[in-house]
This record gives sequence, structure tokens and C-alpha cells, in this order.
Amino acid sequence: MEERLQKYMAECGVGSRRRCEEIIKEGRVKVNGATVTEMGFKVDPGKDIVEYAGKVLKNTQPATTVLLNKPAGFVTTARDQFGRPDVTQLVRMNGVRLYPVGRLDYQTTGLLLLTNDGELAYKLTHPAHQIDKVYRALVRGEIKLEAIRRLEEGVTLEEGVVTSPAKVKLLGIKGGNSTIEITIHEGRNHQVRRMAEAVGYPVLRLRRIQEGPLKLGNVKEGEYRVLSDKEVEALKKLG
Ligand code: URA
Repeated sequence: MEERLQKYMAECGVGSRRRCEEIIKEGRVKVNGATVTEMGFKVDPGKDIVEYAGKVLKNTQPATTVLLNKPAGFVTTARDQFGRPDVTQLVRMNGVRLYPVGRLDYQTTGLLLLTNDGELAYKLTHPAHQIDKVYRALVRGEIKLEAIRRLEEGVTLEEGVVTSPAKVKLLGIKGGNSTIEITIHEGRNHQVRRMAEAVGYPVLRLRRIQEGPLKLGNVKEGEYRVLSDKEVEALKKLG
């Protein structure tokens, strides 16, 4: 059965489908000895020989997805220009390489999925799928209702884009700071931090507590749990 080259590469554990597209564009993949840079290229894994980084790819890894409670002080990108530790170091799976689904900032904690299931990574990160993500944020200052309304309605960020409407709950005000819970489905860079900043209440601490139907639950910071097949299927049906 033929399938797209980037999908097959993702299934072989090379990286997310998007990452694989980049690798193809960079001319680093050969099919049956010839370099392929064309995006819609299809391969038959039963017949074609796909080479990347000097190796013939084989799809031998079982599809695995874990839910990590990311601690602060870890990046979610594989190559960090400052050499900071990355989250994959926290997930040791006996030779199975997992890749973060989407991003969380260096200082953000909480729910982060890592997977070698290319189909799942694609579904969850594709802008068309719009999966709700819930964050708990400690913001500086005693937040006013007016600011909450603005967050709910959509905020104009520096580059002029307006964020989609968000759901916002005020959980409490203590010691001059406020804790809010905010639900968004977009994934712009530093989105929650920039939204909060734009309405005058900079984020002091940020934690993701839910993505789609999945909750962080009682997984401790720095620890993870493997998702069941049922949970993965439910995620694939979203969007
Ligand atoms: N929004 C942010 O600002 N940071 C994150 O890590 C996630 C969402």
C-alpha cells in the first residue's frame, strides 16, 4: 500500500510529519537511490527503499504515546541554540524515540504529549483540528473583569493578529496576584503569555492542565504515563 513519504518517515520514528517534510525539502532523503524533494511523493514501504541519514528506514517501532508533566527548565525542540535540556531526556522508553507534539515554553509546566505516531502528531498539531487546551496561569496583579472580558473576546497581539475567543475563569486573587484558567485552541508562539501581557497582567507561572479530553491528573512534574489505545483513538477522532 502506497503512502506519503513524510507519513512513512514519521511512522519509522524519524520525527513529526512536519519535521519529516522539512527533511525531505532539504534533500536528505533517497528513495530507491534517488534524492526526493517533491512533497506529494508516495512510497510503498513493502517495495521501496527509503534512506535517511545513511540508513534504510524500517518501521519496527510500536506506536507509543506518553503524557508527560513537563517541568520548567526544559525545551520542547530537539536542537536548542543554547544547549538547554530537552524534554525527550525525561522519557526513557528503551530505544523507542518519541517526539513532542507541539510546543510548551521553556518555563511552562504541565501536560505535554510525546509520540512516535505520525498520524496522531499530525492530527493534534494541524491548525484545522482546533483542539482545546486548558492552561492555569498565575498573573501579576489583581485582574479586573474588563481584562477577563477582553481575553474572552480576543486580544490583538503585537503583529496585529487577533486571537480567537477564549474561555476564562478567575480562580482566585491572592497576595496581589491572580490565578486564571484559560482555554484556547490556537497554538501561536507564547500565546497565553502574550495575551495576558496584552491586557496588562503578565504571566508569572503557566501550566497546561488539559488537552482535548486528556487531563494532567496526578502525574508528577518530570514524570509521565503511557496512554492507552483507547485514549489514543479518542484523540485521533477529535477535530
Ligand atoms: N502559551 C504560552 O504562552 N506558553 C506556552 O508554553 C503555552 C501556551
